[in-house]
Amino acid sequence: MNGFNSSEALLGDLTTGQLTRLCQVAGLGEADTAAYTGVLIESLGASAGRPLALPPPSRTFLSDDHSPVEFSLAFLPGQAPDLRVLVEPGCSRGDDLAKNGRAGLQAIHAMADRWGFSTDQLDRLEDLFFPQSPEGPLAVWCALELRPGGVPGVKVYLNPSANGADRAAETVREALARLGHRQAFDSLPRAEGFPFFALDLGDWDAPRVKVYLKHPGLSPTEAGSLPRMSPAPGRERLEEFFRTAGDLPAADDLTADGAAEDADRLTGRPALTCHSFTETATGLPSGYTLHVPVRDYVRDDGEARERAVAVLRSHDMDSAALDRALAAVSPRPLGDGVGLIAYLALVHERGRPQRVTIYVSSEAYRTRPPRETVPTRDRVRARL
Ligand code: TRP
Repeated sequence: MNGFNSSEALLGDLTTGQLTRLCQVAGLGEADTAAYTGVLIESLGASAGRPLALPPPSRTFLSDDHSPVEFSLAFLPGQAPDLRVLVEPGCSRGDDLAKNGRAGLQAIHAMADRWGFSTDQLDRLEDLFFPQSPEGPLAVWCALELRPGGVPGVKVYLNPSANGADRAAETVREALARLGHRQAFDSLPRAEGFPFFALDLGDWDAPRVKVYLKHPGLSPTEAGSLPRMSPAPGRERLEEFFRTAGDLPAADDLTADGAAEDADRLTGRPALTCHSFTETATGLPSGYTLHVPVRDYVRDDGEARERAVAVLRSHDMDSAALDRALAAVSPRPLGDGVGLIAYLALVHERGRPQRVTIYVSSEAYRTRPPRETVPTRDRVRARL
């Protein structure tokens, strides 16, 4: 159990405590903080009042320990990070994906009523992503970008495999087409699967439709070649980010015996890419995000933090805010577990500065003990 709480504590208490401290790191005022803790409680529904001593409300894969909440910080140079929170709004319905999905949709419609935004785009896709007997691994998630002013930006995550993993590609193509992106599917790079389809709802400068792709065994060179947006982001920076996050040695350090090729890949939990579409004229995406599940490539969170700090520094971003955020979420020493830092991501959107996003687990239910072996490192060491 997360060390901020006693054994009688409730899921809602723990996560709103974490959120309150994170709001301070993000520079949000008291009124916004109070509003957003209220929103989080409502999003959790009955699960907010669930004792942490009970098992998680659902076996959600939103986080490794099935906490239905995950935080993230989006960094830009020269300012406090933006704070976001990801929730499974149907978690109180447990693992019945049909019920979980219906409750999640209801929660999103309630947000739309409250903040006065349209759910048109989502409604147009409902039959695709909410069939009668949906398959896993999720029904619907919702991320809130916690902006000053008390009204969050809302992002909805849907499951392309709802009608079976074998139909995911077809489902993504159809969903894109229904939203007017008829050429978008053909612009996507090759991948091994479609983990999420996401929509920005409400008040955004340029609302995005996002397709997430899965890339087992990705190499730095490939990571640099997957963007389809124009102008294309610099390959070198992408490769450098991927090497730093995954702790893959620079090319010169590898032996030239052919085995090196295999050592230069993330062979554990796969990296993901996200391709975002904001206009239908070109058929091309206007954004590219590279997500590295850093937690699978470190011994412990002390190491994950070092990788995150290296990435932030190389982009002139404030790593002190990261340390404050980690302390806001968990009092445990970083070396005592792994998974508090779940992902590191590098985000490119046309016409905007690059961002670094760091995903921080709630660890409401469990901290994973430090890893005994780290896949990439051990393989590389064996070669050198
Ligand atoms: N926990 C899931 C995973 O690791 C889903 C997820 C949560 C995720 N936060 C994420 C995926 C951030 C990508 C980026 O895949």
